[in-house]
Amino acid sequence: MNRIDYLREGIKNLKTMGTIARSSRQLCKNMVSHVNFSDAELIVELGAGDGVITKYILRKLKPDAKLLVFEVNPKFCMILRQIKDPRLILAEASAEKLGEYVEKMGFTKVDYVISAIPFVVLPKQLGLDIIGKCHDYLKKGGRFVQLHYSLVAKNIYERIFGNVNISFVPINIPPAFVLVSEKR
Ligand SMILES: C[S@@+](CC[C@H](N)C(=O)[O-])C[C@H]1O[C@@H](n2cnc3c(N)ncnc32)[C@H](O)[C@@H]1O
Repeated sequence: MNRIDYLREGIKNLKTMGTIARSSRQLCKNMVSHVNFSDAELIVELGAGDGVITKYILRKLKPDAKLLVFEVNPKFCMILRQIKDPRLILAEASAEKLGEYVEKMGFTKVDYVISAIPFVVLPKQLGLDIIGKCHDYLKKGGRFVQLHYSLVAKNIYERIFGNVNISFVPINIPPAFVLVSEKR
């Protein structure tokens, strides 16, 4: 999808997208830098959009590992389906269904969650349900990596995970924060 179409999609769906530009290369690289790919059997990506971070994950994912991707926007799902990679499983569904999909795939735990869902603009309870599910299904030592454009939601991760590390990525529209919480 070109930048203008992405901008249009962002304006049309601001309440689920929370932005009008896809993540920059610097932001994508920061998001995947928190993953130890050598110990990742199952990674879950939430809010994949048209797949900009997805492609960075697939580049580093082990040949026998899986990437389960959640996206609710049908236009983005059409684009994601064009990524022909047998390791990629697309769930055209809301991320609170994470548990169902993980179990259907024969897994009980997730190694990493990489999320770009704009929890700040989503209904609060839906956000809490999704983050809670991620915490429940992450393995011990697994990480939840979340991008945000402000730090207003920081306390949610502190409350659910008991820890959060923050880095700032200025080269992005808008400049972004990457919040990383570990399941202990
Ligand atoms: C900020 S965009 C991020 C897109 C892309 N990952 C990127 O970094 O540029 C957020 C995405 O989350 C998706 N989304 C919003 N609510 C969702 C939900 N409940 N479950 C799954 N995806 C959701 C939106 O459709 C949108 O594509």
